[in-house]
Order: sequence, then structure tokens, then C-alpha cells
Amino acid sequence: MSKLTELSAWQALEDHYYTMQDTHLRDLFAADPTRGEKMSAEGAGLYLDYSKHRVTDETLKLLLALAEEVGVAQKRDAMFAGEKINITEKRAVLHTALRAPRDAVVMVDGKNVVPEVHEVLDRMAAFADEIRSGKWLGHTGQPIKNIVNIGIGGSDLGPVMAYEGLKHYAQRDLTVRFVSNVDGTDLAEKTRDLDPAQTLFIVSSKTFTTQETMTNARSARQWLLGSLKDDAAVARHFVAVSTNAAEVTKFGINTANMFGFWDWVGGRYSMDSAIGLSLMIAVGPDHYRALLAGFHEMDEHFRTAPASRNLPMLLGLLGVWYNNFFGAETVAILPYDQYLAYFSAYLQQLDMESNGKHVTLDNETVDYQTGPVIWGQPGTNGQHAFYQLIHQGTKLIPCDFIGFCQTLNPMAPHHDLLMANVFAQTEALAFGKTLEQVLADGVDPQIAPHRVFGGNRPTSTILADKLTPHILGALIALYEHKVFVQGVIWDINSFDQWGVELGKVLAGKIAPELQSEGEPELKHDSSTNTLIKRYRARRA
Ligand code: F6P
Repeated sequence: MSKLTELSAWQALEDHYYTMQDTHLRDLFAADPTRGEKMSAEGAGLYLDYSKHRVTDETLKLLLALAEEVGVAQKRDAMFAGEKINITEKRAVLHTALRAPRDAVVMVDGKNVVPEVHEVLDRMAAFADEIRSGKWLGHTGQPIKNIVNIGIGGSDLGPVMAYEGLKHYAQRDLTVRFVSNVDGTDLAEKTRDLDPAQTLFIVSSKTFTTQETMTNARSARQWLLGSLKDDAAVARHFVAVSTNAAEVTKFGINTANMFGFWDWVGGRYSMDSAIGLSLMIAVGPDHYRALLAGFHEMDEHFRTAPASRNLPMLLGLLGVWYNNFFGAETVAILPYDQYLAYFSAYLQQLDMESNGKHVTLDNETVDYQTGPVIWGQPGTNGQHAFYQLIHQGTKLIPCDFIGFCQTLNPMAPHHDLLMANVFAQTEALAFGKTLEQVLADGVDPQIAPHRVFGGNRPTSTILADKLTPHILGALIALYEHKVFVQGVIWDINSFDQWGVELGKVLAGKIAPELQSEGEPELKHDSSTNTLIKRYRARRA
């Protein structure tokens, strides 16, 4: 048994699970007509309905006791205070400082980092304004019309998700694109219709050594110089976002055109650092600052709201309940807003790179499940694709439904229909349809079992009034902190990502074997050797 599973709160939850495993949401709702109102919490403009979860007051009490016993609040305070909680990289974890107001004080190694954060934000704002107003001219004297962010992982997913999320607020005469894949098709397709003289590349990479990003950045430079034919053009068409000034200079970008951030910002927690430059150019500094204010409001909620009404705490604990006691393997994220098309992809990195871990902070191999598989798609599209399995399949898939009371594109009757689907899906998932109900509908008894919905499928519903920059910030911070709560409970380091290293190292060895002139001596396993040989023999 591990430290976690030995805890009295954990064991109490195990016992409680046996009393709860067959309890149906139908009965829980029948027993308490006020459940839907009672089991809700609000913070930073977000309303969370958690009544359609397989929990009672007792379950919540036990989950909160678990949070207490593992010290979630103390660890949270340590994170906000800049303690080096990322122990394998010996780093503070301070994405919350990125959205701290100007007069806040956040100390790292004896220094208040907030003034530097705002200095970078001010430089970004000045640069964004120059681009947006057409004052920043390209090498041939033309204003910039196209922004291409080159980055991957945290240096791509956050900006692309938030750009799509806030497109409604974007300056529409700017074309904003995101290149991430090392597959040349990505760069080729994203630049094919762009005029180099009007194009700005933002090379976004915390390390400025990531293979995909640097390969794309070099090819982008060739594409630019192939047309503008003057090395001096790079200075007007390339800027960098990085923590690594030396590598930025080596690449040929003047550090005057570099926007920095700090090692206490993890890649997947960096979209509100200078990594958000493409987004700030698109939506403008004011909207960007509203986004930061939304993040900050949720930070404050997480820091100060009582645990029983604390949104990230509740979401985190409910996730642990299904992950560790019901054996649920995945969580579906289902935003009912087309603008949030990339939200689940963003959360995949945030959650899975953070909590996809197998050893505790004390180097013990865990004997319990850690991070779930995160997936999803915006509604209503998913309903016509994978919801069948969520409703009637054999797997338990807790879902987060996210919806807005007001649409940004009023076009009756669309929004009412969209939201009708949110409410209908969570109702159907919770209550299902019994055999008796199916038969009462006059369905042929021969096929009636196929029409039965078991129900008892748990969902959270997160509602906000309108998708604004502020609300998007709050929503992202909600999930950042949910991931944090779960990482603390599982006693893992949510802030490193060693699991991505081995593949990178092996790719670094294999690339020269694919590129070499003569027949290389291959020392891999027989499968890898055969695949490499076949590729070499057949490539053009
Ligand atoms: O895939 C691993 C990773 O290190 C991510 O954590 C990170 O967001 C991404 O690569 C990109 O890294 P960088 O910003 O240094 O290019």
C-alpha cells in the first residue's frame, strides 16, 4: 500500500464507494428535490452544477477530507508563494504571477517578479499596437497583414485555442495562423497564399531548441528570404518569444525583437506569458488584459474560496472519485461553443502532460491510477459521432459540458437549440430511460432492450453568461487548478514532463540514419530496423 491509499480519508472513500456504486442518480434526485440548486457553486463568472454526479453530501465530505489530509490548501499556498514545488527541475511554479496585477508582489529567489512581468506585457502591447495600426513596416515598407506563430505544445496549443476562442474579438483584417507540426505540409499550407512582404513570424519556444519549431523557423526564414532576398529582412519579419536569449541570437533574431519569460513558467502553463503574443496582436492589448484579469479572478477564487465551494477543488475531487474509485479511464470535455473548438486539445496537454506520471514525489511507483485520458469535441457535433458510446456503451465516461447563456452570433433559433442540447444530454445521461418507459412508448418488446438507456452517467455543467476574454481566462485557470488539485492528491509532480524525452532522443538518433548517403549500420530492434530500411528503399 502506498502513502496515499493508506490514508484514513482514502480508506473511508473506498468503503463509501461500495455503498455508492449502485446508487442511481434517479434515486438521489428523487430523494432531494432541491439537489439541482444545492449542488452548485460559483466563482469568477462561472457557474458549476455538480448535482448530476454520483455523490451524496457524505461523498463530498469524504473527498474534502481527503483534500485536507493530503494538504491541498498548503500545497496551493506553496505554489502561489513561489516555493520550488517542481522538484525534479528545481523550479518554482508561478504561472499565477503572469496575471498578477501591477501592484502585486510575488517573490522568486528574493526578487519581486511582478514588475518584470508587466514590463514584458507593456512591450508586447506596444508591439501589438504597432502591428495592428500598420505602423510596423516590413522590409519593403509594407504593413504586416499576416501573423504566423511557429511553436509546438505549450507554445502553440494555448495561443491557437485562445485565438480561435476569442476570434469574435479579433482584428479581422489580420490573418493569424499557427504552424506546429514538423511535417512540412503544415508550413507549406499555412504560407502558400501569404505575401512574404506582409508576413510576420513569431517563433515561440521556451527553450528555442525544440526540433519541430526550429526546423519550421529555419524553413520559414528560407521562404521569406527566397522572396525578399536580403538577410536584413529577418529583423522586420521575425520576432522571438523565449527564455533562451543565447539561442534566439544564434538563430539570427535580434534580442531587441525578443519577448522573454521565465523558467518558473511551464510550457503548458505559458499561454498568458509572452507566448500569447500572437493572440494579443489578434485581439488587442485591452482584450488580452481582460483575459489575464479573468485568470486572476479564478486564481483568487482558488486561493480564497472555502474548499466546499471552490470550483477547481470540486472538479478535481470529483475527477479523483471516478478515476480512483469507479475506475473511469477518461474524461470528455464537451464545450457547446464553436469558438472553443480547440479547448479539449488544449486541455489534453494541460492535463495529460501534467498528470500522466507514475512515481510519487518520494520516487515510489504509484499503486493507483493517476491522470485520465482527456478528449472531446465541441457540441453538437460529438452527439452525432461518439455520444452513443457515452450513453449506452460499457465504459463510464464522466463529462464536462460547457455552455454560455448568450451567443456572440445571434441567429435565432440556433442558440436555444444549442443549449437545449446541453441540458438534454446531461438529463439523458443522468436519468436514462428504463425498460418500462421504453415499453410504455409502445416499442416492440423484441428490440426494447436496445432502446434502454441505463443513465447514471455523471456530468458537470459549467455555465457562463457569454464567452468573453475574461471568462475564457477564468475557464482556463479553472482547469489549470483542477489539474493541480489532482496532482497533489496523487502525490506526483504535475510540472515536469520527462515522458516526452525518450522519443525525442531516439528521433535525434534515427534522423541521421534516414538522411545518410550510404547504408547506415542499424542497431535498433528488428522491427525498427526493418521499418527504417523499408522507408529508405521507398522514399522518393
Ligand atoms: O513536448 C514537450 C514540451 O517540452 C512541452 O512541454 C512544451 O510545451 C513543448 O515541448 C514546446 O517546448 P518549447 O516551448 O521549449 O519549444
